Amino acid sequence: METHVLPIDGTTPDTAILARAAELLRSGELVAFPTETVYGLGADALNSQAVKKIYEAKGRPSRNPLIVHVVSVEQAKRLTSHWPKHAEMLVAHFWPGPLTLVLQKDEKVPDEVTGGGSTVAIRMPSHPIARALINAAGTPLAAPSANVSSKLSPTSAAHVKKDLDGVIAMILDGGPSSGGIESTVIDLTEDAPRLLRPGLLPLKTIEEVIGPVEQDIPQDEGNALKSPGLLTKHYAPNTKIFVTEEPKYLIKKLLQKKQKLACLTLGEHMDGVACIVMPGNADAYAARLYGELHALDDGRFDVIVAQLPPNEDAWLGVRDRLLRAAAKE
Ligand code: TXA
Ligand code: MG
Repeated sequence: METHVLPIDGTTPDTAILARAAELLRSGELVAFPTETVYGLGADALNSQAVKKIYEAKGRPSRNPLIVHVVSVEQAKRLTSHWPKHAEMLVAHFWPGPLTLVLQKDEKVPDEVTGGGSTVAIRMPSHPIARALINAAGTPLAAPSANVSSKLSPTSAAHVKKDLDGVIAMILDGGPSSGGIESTVIDLTEDAPRLLRPGLLPLKTIEEVIGPVEQDIPQDEGNALKSPGLLTKHYAPNTKIFVTEEPKYLIKKLLQKKQKLACLTLGEHMDGVACIVMPGNADAYAARLYGELHALDDGRFDVIVAQLPPNEDAWLGVRDRLLRAAAKE
């Protein structure tokens, strides 16, 4: 299949282009589109045949459920069988934006979306193209990140094309995604809210609205190394990547082994290697992370070394992505 890449304005999206994309979605095809976090690979969330195509295109295990993207709270409620108070509070503060809520699903949500489970993940993106596309399609869109399963997420149309050219019908090119890492995922289906995936919206900001959130995912490197099974490989470049809080020693060792080295640091200068100095602010770092990794991932290097940012709330999302990129399997 030919993949059409259509440039589209990010603030006032062209209605004729949106109509073409919406028509493809309504006929069960896949369209990649920008969101404020990363590019999504969209399908009509209520069409199980269309949703199946997402798993085929990405090579994604069918038990790994998808996020459904909506354009209004009413549309979200129609996908759920129970709308808890915490959902009401969170969406009032953070929607549209990079927050995904896991809720009890309504029966109209196909099993293909939820991996056969009884819960559904929902988010309302803020990106004008994403919003206009959901409106034009007239249906919620199931949309994982538009990359091959477990690989780097895309923050530009070119990244999507690299993975999915010839496999999907259309890519809407609305320029780079400003957020750079995925949404924060919170499970609201049990008594206590639980963090399932740290992301662009900091946990502390969420806790200011609903109080303490359970968190039983590994957060620091020590933990990750002690229980590698808890960290599944994901968001990974093809080039081998190591992450460490103290890159100096590792870099020295790798240079002695004559490895062709790229590195991402947080300001420190490293002798003998041209390191990319990443921003000291978590939002600015997140916005650049995948773009830098995509650019380094072209076969020039044997190894990428990334300095792990401090184990602080603001950095949870970035640390999670780096640790998973470096995880064994
Ligand atoms: O920022 C984002 O969230 C991007 C953009 C495109 O919106 N989407 C994204 O989707 O990252 P994906 O499929 O790559 O990640 C979905 C995450 C996974 O960690 C998945 O396990 C979790 O959400 N998830 C989805 N449905 C779930 C459910 N019913 N219960 C628990 N976790 C769920
Ligand atoms: Mg993904």
